[in-house]
Amino acid sequence: MRQKLIAGNWKMHGLGADLAQVGTLIATHPDPPCDVVICAPATLVHRMAQLCDGSCVAVGGQTCHVAATGAHTGDISAAMLADAGASHVIVGHSERRADHGETDAIVATQCRAAWDAGLFVILCIGESEAERDAGRTLDVVGRQLAHSVPDGATPHRLAIAYEPIWAIGTGRTPTSDQIAEVHNSMRAELSSRIGEAGGQGIRLLYGGSMKPGNAAEILAIPDVDGGLIGGASLKAADFGAIIAAAAATAAA
Ligand code: PGA
Repeated sequence: MRQKLIAGNWKMHGLGADLAQVGTLIATHPDPPCDVVICAPATLVHRMAQLCDGSCVAVGGQTCHVAATGAHTGDISAAMLADAGASHVIVGHSERRADHGETDAIVATQCRAAWDAGLFVILCIGESEAERDAGRTLDVVGRQLAHSVPDGATPHRLAIAYEPIWAIGTGRTPTSDQIAEVHNSMRAELSSRIGEAGGQGIRLLYGGSMKPGNAAEILAIPDVDGGLIGGASLKAADFGAIIAAAAATAAA
């Protein structure tokens, strides 16, 4: 039985005052029956980790450099995130791939760097609208999975987030059948690569315009083991409603 993972991605949002939302979330959902993590902007990781210490909310970063240290002005290493209190990190988000030229090969190296620092990785893949329209979704996602996920993946240190680029921040989502098709295919590819036990254990998250209004339906799809939530993770009420939806599917 895979425990659901509900992950927030604050992106480049959040000042110190916004930590009040996290305080509210902890107070209103003290014991969620799923794993909860908030991936904060680097400036908030340390303060958020202090706030969440002893709670059921874990804190993550949103990317990490491939190297542990070095002359890379403005970058942040996985060890620095861990030192600041993070236990998780997102790698390969489509916004990083687009804005910073992060290729599958770079993402695989970031993932290894994160594992070396003891971080749990949420690794993102997903097709563009043009790729879906061309009927290439499973090819694209399969290729990203094969090349971005390094050897050594286990359920204890990796979750994959399927995030169709055209669904991120747009209010559009794939149908349940479309999500199920991609998740089934990812599950089969992972199992054939790393074996049944690992392949069945790695959690597959859906991301892209997940909101309180559609979370229950998406989280009930077989092989959807959680969500990566951008906009709706910023407010405790919305994020809390998605956690409640995950709790309902866990109880069902
Ligand atoms: P969204 O973002 O929920 O705002 O669509 C999801 C993501 O990019 O991880």
